[in-house]
Amino acid sequence: MTGRLPFEGADAAARVHAHASRIARAPAELVPQLPPQLSLLVMKLLEKTPEHRYTDAAGVLADLRRCETLLRQHGRIPLFALDAHSALRKPGGAGLVLGRDAELQALFALYREVADSARMRAAWVSGPSGIGKSTLLREAVARMQRSGAPLLAAAKSEEGRRGKPYALLVEVLDPLLRHVVGCANEEFAVWRNRIAAAAKPVERTLAGLLPALGVILGLQSGQPVPAAPEAAPALERERVLQGMARLIACFAGPRVRS
Ligand SMILES: Nc1ncnc2c1ncn2[C@@H]1O[C@H](COP(=O)(O)OP(=O)(O)OP(=O)(O)O)[C@@H](O)[C@H]1O
Ligand SMILES: [Mg+2]
Repeated sequence: MTGRLPFEGADAAARVHAHASRIARAPAELVPQLPPQLSLLVMKLLEKTPEHRYTDAAGVLADLRRCETLLRQHGRIPLFALDAHSALRKPGGAGLVLGRDAELQALFALYREVADSARMRAAWVSGPSGIGKSTLLREAVARMQRSGAPLLAAAKSEEGRRGKPYALLVEVLDPLLRHVVGCANEEFAVWRNRIAAAAKPVERTLAGLLPALGVILGLQSGQPVPAAPEAAPALERERVLQGMARLIACFAGPRVRS
């Protein structure tokens, strides 16, 4: 439509950063004769949060077909609500949790205690398979996010998951680091300094496990992780675990403000 990419950048890291943190210029700004509705459609496809994008390709196709029909009938495309198609297919919306108000309130109160007083808290949720533990926790996390919670990390340890080293910690850290990749420039700079200090001296090994870390620290992605670490395996493992603990601690402090 515009003959150019939504984001330019000198290298992959700059483009990833731009994709995550900047809003693209609307196609209609670049090509004034473009129908505004098509421009809005493209911007919807470029939304940062998945919920604001189209649910599926069928939704995009339905809107494009509607544009085509309107253009044929009226010679122009009047504005209409995009993705009405998917709204109709999901009556009530996903994430409906019934009869768990007391449990949700208890979890939320615990979260508030941690957020307000920086004390550590743990909660055990137990019950037979299928009773709704995962559903409860998903909803609790969603409520915390809606209440303006800054950063939440979640991971699940599966019995019998073997082979992938540090899988659980990687699952915790990856979204936190990706959040940083998407931060605006000044906030990004503050994070980058903190994270660089925490990741030393095992930043290359950690970046091999956590690609977002490589992006933040500007490490060349082509450069392989040292095949044979200098330290003995047990010692290397200890250093990596300590590095990961320091990274988690970066995010457990007061919120970064630019
Ligand atoms: N409070 C609820 N309201 C509506 N649906 C629920 C609720 N709790 C659970 N469900 C539904 O029951 C099913 C099983 O729930 P869920 O996967 O959360 O169970 P679980 O305790 O995590 O099971 P497992 O131990 O096997 O992981 C899901 O399809 C979920 O949507
Ligand atoms: Mg579950």
